Amino acid sequence: MANRKLHVLPDNAGLLRAAAECLCDAIADVVSTKEYCTMALSGGSTPRGLYELLAAPAFSESIPWNKLRFFLGDERHVPHDHPDSNLRMVRESLFGNREPAPGTLFPVDTRLDPKEAAMKYEQTLREVIGKDGALDIVLLGLGDDAHTASLFPHTDALQEKNAWVKEVYVEKLNAWRISFTFPLINAARTVVFLVSGASKSSAVRQVLQGEREPDTFPAQSVQPHDGVVHWFLDEAAASALK
Ligand code: 6PG
Repeated sequence: MANRKLHVLPDNAGLLRAAAECLCDAIADVVSTKEYCTMALSGGSTPRGLYELLAAPAFSESIPWNKLRFFLGDERHVPHDHPDSNLRMVRESLFGNREPAPGTLFPVDTRLDPKEAAMKYEQTLREVIGKDGALDIVLLGLGDDAHTASLFPHTDALQEKNAWVKEVYVEKLNAWRISFTFPLINAARTVVFLVSGASKSSAVRQVLQGEREPDTFPAQSVQPHDGVVHWFLDEAAASALK
């Protein structure tokens, strides 16, 4: 059973600040003993505010940017300048459209077909994080259907036991995604969930307190083998917890 820590904050602003402080502490801890810190970023809308906070002077000045190696925990299979692109959101919010230092941000090559893009991204990960496949930090969000990354309910990628990255066709979105798999996520040293809003409260309760139904509630399968998983929730997202 992973070491799980629950942090409930009164509102979104408090949530983002607490998560930013946790991430900065985790980064500082990693770089105190390692040359660089590998960190996977989540997509969607919730983390945009967090990335903007990390990019603001209060946090930015304490972050060793050149010692970070950023990946995307999942990506939409769209061009990098597409409004739905997670890379585009990260470039805008975390980097303020400034060019990251070379070799610090690793995008998914969405020019390739989904399967090839997933295989190439896994190869990139193996080159940067090495064969043990242990990322230092993985930031995740949670969908209202309890998906995380692009590991959606009842998709084949949920059963993947070896590959680190898979292509996922999401029926309800009629869209291809490229996603980390549970083997890669669960090898991480620190996993941080960032979940905001009442629309997520039912999914939060199912994942944290519900019966085990991982095919229906995929985020239940985030159980880092040796790592810690922090759940950062605002009160609205935590409102269904008993
Ligand atoms: C994505 C994300 C996805 C996201 C959840 C929550 O690419 O969409 O990685 O897993 O974290 O869907 O999205 P919101 O933050 O937009 O609610």
